[in-house]
Amino acid sequence: MDKRMKLSDFLTGSVNLELAKLLIAFAEGCKVISHLVNNAGVSDIFGAHAPDFTNVHGEEVQKLDHLTNKILHDYLAAAESCAGYISEETEDVTYINDTGNYVVAMDPLDGSSNIDIAAPVGTIFSVNERLSPIGKIQLSDFLQKGANAKAAGYVTYGSSTVLVLSTGKGVNGFTLSTGDNDFYISHPNIVIPEKGKIYSINQGNISKFGDDVRGFIDYCTAVDNNDSRPYRLRYIGAMAADMHRTLLKGGIFMYPANKGEAKGKLRLLYECIPMAFIVEQAGGEAIDGKMRILEIQPSDFHERCAIFTGSKNLVQKVAEFTKG
Ligand code: AHG
Ligand code: MN
Ligand code: MN
Repeated sequence: MDKRMKLSDFLTGSVNLELAKLLIAFAEGCKVISHLVNNAGVSDIFGAHAPDFTNVHGEEVQKLDHLTNKILHDYLAAAESCAGYISEETEDVTYINDTGNYVVAMDPLDGSSNIDIAAPVGTIFSVNERLSPIGKIQLSDFLQKGANAKAAGYVTYGSSTVLVLSTGKGVNGFTLSTGDNDFYISHPNIVIPEKGKIYSINQGNISKFGDDVRGFIDYCTAVDNNDSRPYRLRYIGAMAADMHRTLLKGGIFMYPANKGEAKGKLRLLYECIPMAFIVEQAGGEAIDGKMRILEIQPSDFHERCAIFTGSKNLVQKVAEFTKG
């Protein structure tokens, strides 16, 4: 029997009851996703949702993208404190409970193309307190700067399922026990190593990057024995999994602007802000190249944002290139 603290006990002791209920409900949904992902092969849920079925970004929707959104919808709907959510998989706001005090932004299944090869995938989310009075939530409730978030987290479904969460008082990680199907604290008070030696980027895009990012990649790959360079390159292709490594081992994760993607690929509200919130809470940094991601004023649910995030030494170094 594991004597570690359960997620539900941790939350009820550290945030108000409404927020705790919402986060516990969300985590329950992630447990279901974990089992679904582990059993993808036997449940015939590989591949595309339906022929020519694309999401708001024009990307082919996988069966699991669709299913995971539905699962999290149902758990959020059961949590009375959730007024509504936005998701990578839905174009507009989904309204849930007009009297709820919180709204959620979520990427239900991150790195979904990894599913077919049994590689890690994730879920990413953040929670805002509503600004509007009780009644139908407003767009402005979602379009808040990341610095205002009340909670953010991700789950990585890898060799184990780990939920990493911050409610603005540091960062903690919880592992899903296959024994009793509960999340137990496994990574208390995560602090990102100040000096990282791993860089993470889709380097296949190098010819599409600007001179600034190319200059930083040259820096990472140059030989310098005093600085452990060349640094190691690691890229899983699921942000949640790449960020989990970055958080625990140190390093930098990047998805820069490039030819054809003026603001990169990743989405501000449900990928970049949650990760920036967690990384900053763990003592690291997150910028879009020019400014702190948590200070960006969002203007659209599905807007994209370039991201450079991780250990201080590497984010500050890349900023020397991107800020010119
Ligand atoms: P999603 O599956 O939610 O669309 O996210 C995929 C994202 C992200 O997880 C990952 O970091 C990135 O796409 C990988 O993109 P590239 O294949 O362009 O490197
Ligand atoms: Mn994603
Ligand atoms: Mn996704």
